[in-house]
Amino acid sequence: MLKKEYNDLLTQTGPETPFGRMFRCYWIPALLAEELPANDCPPVRVKLLSERLIAFRDTDGRYGLMDEFCAHRGISLWFGRNEECGLRCPYHGWKYDVTGQCVDMPNEPEHSAFAKKVKLTSYPLVERGGVLWTYMGPPEQQPPLPEYEFATVPAAQTYTSKRFQECNWLQAMEGGIDSSHVSFLHRGDINTDPLFKGARGNQYNLGDLRPVFEVVESAGGLFIGARRNAEDGNYYWRITQWVMPSYTIIPPRGTHSVHGHFWIPIDDENCWAWSFDYHPTRVLTESELTAMRAGKGIHAKVDDQYRPIANKDNDYLMDRAAQKAGKTYSGIEGFAMQDASLQESMGPVVDRTKETLVSTDSGIIMARQKLLRAIKAFMEQGVVPPGVSLEHQRVRSAAVVLPPDQPFKDAARDALIAHPGVAPASV
Ligand code: FES
Ligand SMILES: [Fe+2]
Repeated sequence: MLKKEYNDLLTQTGPETPFGRMFRCYWIPALLAEELPANDCPPVRVKLLSERLIAFRDTDGRYGLMDEFCAHRGISLWFGRNEECGLRCPYHGWKYDVTGQCVDMPNEPEHSAFAKKVKLTSYPLVERGGVLWTYMGPPEQQPPLPEYEFATVPAAQTYTSKRFQECNWLQAMEGGIDSSHVSFLHRGDINTDPLFKGARGNQYNLGDLRPVFEVVESAGGLFIGARRNAEDGNYYWRITQWVMPSYTIIPPRGTHSVHGHFWIPIDDENCWAWSFDYHPTRVLTESELTAMRAGKGIHAKVDDQYRPIANKDNDYLMDRAAQKAGKTYSGIEGFAMQDASLQESMGPVVDRTKETLVSTDSGIIMARQKLLRAIKAFMEQGVVPPGVSLEHQRVRSAAVVLPPDQPFKDAARDALIAHPGVAPASV
């Protein structure tokens, strides 16, 4: 369990909160590049870390992310006209460039210089790996652009999707570092999903329901090792990477692509579940891409607002017959919605004072401790938190079979670093 004060600290990310300020030390995914597909295309509402923002792409292809509301009298600039290198408020015509600077005030006297004094809060918005990233912290502390491997491999080797999730970011993220649920919740899909099936490791997953967890601190977060029995007394290790604040990489399976998530707060009761699939050394095949677009693997079928088609309003399309027949363990189809349905069922912010944690929750416990320590050091001494450094971002997950006397953190040390052009360690 977690004391209420710590639960509040870890789940509140608005601008004035301690964690909100620390979250703003990182570049975070804001939109898919496909959401702003052309110069002067319609602007898009974006809510991040409890701030309401508007994103647009100007006539010259520059991206802007700024306060959603016009400085004049508070109109949502979603109604704005995106034209001639700026977003123009449709009420009285004030116009803003991608930095939030007001560049035209047509309802003022012609020679007034007042527009120069008006600037909306704005944040950089930069494309990398098909994702538009933003940094919402103090400009003088802006770190270099992110170098997570999925975002830096060639475009044909990577695919990213996002889905709206109706709960606090932390309970979604805790699902991402809780490897023990895979053998239960996802057991019906491991051998059938096109992006998972056929790997030798799957049988170890399904054959040993009591993994032993060994969690080791890494520079940027944690290595979460889950040990299951393999043949001849050897161990099958699945090593998940968690990089602060909310980047997780799932251990690979066979020759499949590698997948993982980013969990980004929209506000304290909703988050974006970003899901990526990439392969460090090969392009994704057409059939893999077709499966990803169809919501297979860790992706989900979503509507044009990125809300899953199976959602809490339709009970996630619960199929009791499939549950009874063992086709799916929970009756919900697909990895993504199997996770999201249960995490949303906990309520928008789960009361962690009432939970009962056991040994397989050690990754979750250590992640909370690491976050709390980092918040304290950041608030009291201004220490830059783990995960901001590019070195911390250039990491990988791994799946390996090791003799029983070899600690995974030594035997798999090199496999846990992202070496460009080197295939992942996978079983
Ligand atoms: S409210 Fe935007 S110009 Fe008046
Ligand atoms: Fe899951």
